[in-house]
Amino acid sequence: MSILIKNIKQLIQVHENNVLIVKGKDMKKLPIIENAYLYIQDDTIVEFGTMDFCEGIDAETVIDATGKIVLPSWCDSHTHIVYAGNRVSEFVDRINGLSYTEIANRGGGILNSAKKLQNTSEDELYKQSVKRLNEMISMGTGAVEIKTGYGLTVEAELKMLKVIRRIKRDSLARIAPTLLAAHAIPSEYRQDKTSYVNKIVKELIPKASALRIAKYIDVFCEEGYFSVEDTKQILEAGKKHGFIPKIHVNQFNILGGVALGVEHNALSVDHLEELNTDDIKALKNSDTMPVALPGCSYFLGIPYTPARQIIDAGLPLAIATDYNPGSSPSGNMNFVVSSACIKLKMTPEEAINAATINGAYAMGFSNMYGSVTRGKKANIIITKPMDSYAEIPYAFGHNPIDTVIINGQLWT
Ligand code: NIG
Ligand code: FE
Repeated sequence: MSILIKNIKQLIQVHENNVLIVKGKDMKKLPIIENAYLYIQDDTIVEFGTMDFCEGIDAETVIDATGKIVLPSWCDSHTHIVYAGNRVSEFVDRINGLSYTEIANRGGGILNSAKKLQNTSEDELYKQSVKRLNEMISMGTGAVEIKTGYGLTVEAELKMLKVIRRIKRDSLARIAPTLLAAHAIPSEYRQDKTSYVNKIVKELIPKASALRIAKYIDVFCEEGYFSVEDTKQILEAGKKHGFIPKIHVNQFNILGGVALGVEHNALSVDHLEELNTDDIKALKNSDTMPVALPGCSYFLGIPYTPARQIIDAGLPLAIATDYNPGSSPSGNMNFVVSSACIKLKMTPEEAINAATINGAYAMGFSNMYGSVTRGKKANIIITKPMDSYAEIPYAFGHNPIDTVIINGQLWT
């Protein structure tokens, strides 16, 4: 199976060499070929260049992209798309004045989603989650991290992992599975968090590791959830079992989780709506990717991650949806790219770098995804006609996408 896309107005995020991460000032650069072609064979990007060099190339499928932009698919490095039902009633409660924390303290929030998930079969959960993933693919996402974390019992967490395994086997999208081992404290452990942390360390992590599904381990390090000390214990246990940390930190409070993540070689530290100079210092000279989740700030009305401070310090930044039922019920990366420009004051180039190559890095596979590079996987977006790629974030809320190619196949 071969696809030739020709007469491309702008082919963007094109790299001759296999870049793995883009940092600081370099995030303002977005390599581009005008009047280009792109040739795909099976699931791989084989060749590209200006139209002058396209002569003689033929393919089973030829797409005329006159007036259109072509770019690598979005890489969404932080999602919780395996969940049951929704939390629309809490959404209405918040409009009527309750806060996210008040709802959580009443047994809503993550505990509400856990109750629903525990009572939902693996098949039903798979069905609901695949529907979300397929909608994300149609909006241009080609690689997705998926977390557990709504189980809150060993049994339900393992059920979530099995759902993620089925999705990974069946989907054309590339999936990065994460064990979100510590997401909230179940009500029966409210007075005895130590026992719950012990259960995670002694039972959940070993059993999850034996299934060999998840590559990453995550903890929600936050007041009222898991302290820096709890997080440390859980990450250390996870690392002993071969998991790589990716953690939720600084969503509402700065506890010191960023430095802890860096010390434990976390692949990413996510949220960072609150951030101080010590956090920035900890991230410098590390391999840890900071990840901003503007959809969560938008939905909850909390501060946006100070992206300028991060990038201007010479650091890299990725952006992701945080698709989940409580704090960001949207898997639309186009909206995330728009919000990054409008609210985080990132340039279109920075936002696109953050949503492609750096997102792929935050999942551990930027060697195969996140740029238009020979040998990389053919996950490609063809936009509707537009004057320049800056129209992708500019026309917020609109769908900029005309055609999606995933793993070398046209997505219909
Ligand atoms: O990333 N912060 C923790 N976890 C999710 C929200 C969970 C929920 O409200 O269901 C997040 O925002
Ligand atoms: Fe999250």
